[in-house]
Formats: sequence, C-alpha cells, structure tokens
Amino acid sequence: MNKKDKTVCWVSRTLRLLVAVAIVFVAVPFSLGQNKDLPKELAKMISAELIVEIGVFTGYVTLALAQALGRNGKVIALDNTEQFVNIGKPFWLKSSAGNKIDLRIGLALDSLQAMLERENMASKVDMIFLDADKPSYPVYYELALKLLRPGGLIAIDNTLFHGAVLDESTPGDSTPAIRKLNKIVRDDTRVDMIMLPLADGLTLALKK
Ligand SMILES: C[S@@+](CC[C@H](N)C(=O)[O-])C[C@H]1O[C@@H](n2cnc3c(N)ncnc32)[C@H](O)[C@@H]1O
Repeated sequence: MNKKDKTVCWVSRTLRLLVAVAIVFVAVPFSLGQNKDLPKELAKMISAELIVEIGVFTGYVTLALAQALGRNGKVIALDNTEQFVNIGKPFWLKSSAGNKIDLRIGLALDSLQAMLERENMASKVDMIFLDADKPSYPVYYELALKLLRPGGLIAIDNTLFHGAVLDESTPGDSTPAIRKLNKIVRDDTRVDMIMLPLADGLTLALKK
C-alpha cells in the first residue's frame, strides 16, 4: 500500500469512527438517556429468564439484559441491520453474559412471527423490550402480548416521543403510531400498565 492509499484508508477509518461516535451521542438521549440500566433492573425484579429485545442498535441494553439473567437465561435480540450491533459486539464477546445473547438479523415482524409460528413460543417469554421502528409499534405490541407469559412484562420505549404525542398535527408515521399504541395500552384490559415520564417516556405493561 503506498502512502496515498494509506492516508485514504486512515481518513476513511477515522470518518467511520466519527460517524459511529456521533450516532451513539445522537441516539442515546432519544432513548433511555441516563436510565439505560433500567430494563436490566426490571428483568431482575421479575426474575426473567427469556427476554426479547426488539431493536438492538449498538447492543448496550442487550448486554445489560443478558447480565440480569440466570445461568440458562437468554436474550433474543432482534434488529434488521448488523451495522450498529457490530459496534457493541466486541463488548458482548468480552462479557461472561455475552453467550446468552441470541442475535437475529431480519425484520422484527418476521422474527416475531417465526417465534410464534415455528418455535411455539406463545406465552413463554418473560420480558419484552420494545424499542424499534415506531410505525410498527401497535403490531409489535400485539405479537408481544402473544409471546408473553401471564405476569410477563413489556417495556416500551419512547412513548412520549419528545412530547410530540401531545401535538395532533405532528407529521410523519411515527408519532401517530405511538399515540395510537398509547391509547391501546391505556385501554387494554389484558394488561396492567403505567407510563413512566422519564427520559423519552417508558411504558410498562404487565400481562394479566
Ligand atoms: C432506538 S434503536 C434501539 C436501541 C436499543 N434498544 C438500546 O436501548 O440501546 C432502534 C433499532 O431498531 C432497529 N430497527 C428499525 N427498524 C427495524 C425493523 N423493521 N426490524 C428490526 N429492527 C429494526 C434499528 O436498526 C435500530 O438499531
């Protein structure tokens, strides 16, 4: 490799690193912010052994959830791209809990349906952390309720959506979908629920 190629390579690597760091710093405040370990503590409280995370990103919460599990516990982690997961994967590999993560790349909708139809996982899951594409939240919620065991917990991130849920005129697909889901969960007699107004809004619903 000549000097010019080496420089191009270095610039490209540095740019990719800067983009990765920027993604982390932009994305974190929109998610659980300083409360990233809350899902882990919730998992411990209900002694979860089988957890599904819908939307992994860099996998920080995924690993935290895995650390909450007992020896035979498992986190099934769903994302449609490995691009961001690859940033966090080295930390999974370093952790003794890393081998409890079952990463499945593909559309979450397909993965959830496969769990129900091919893996007979209905009513077997202890906890679901929903944190992926917002327009699909109502559909994910219904599938999640099928997967959860009675007493199982679904934690739904971003249910305040930066406050946009209060403004009926907010454009786009995400805000109306979250607003719709909020109403569904509020009126859902199949669950006991509470919306925590922390970070970007975290709704907890316990399947009856
Ligand atoms: C907000 S991030 C998840 C953050 C992560 N749970 C955490 O707390 O660090 C949303 C993730 O959902 C993924 N995603 C978006 N649409 C998806 C889809 N249709 N199926 C699966 N994953 C999807 C994105 O790739 C992204 O990694």
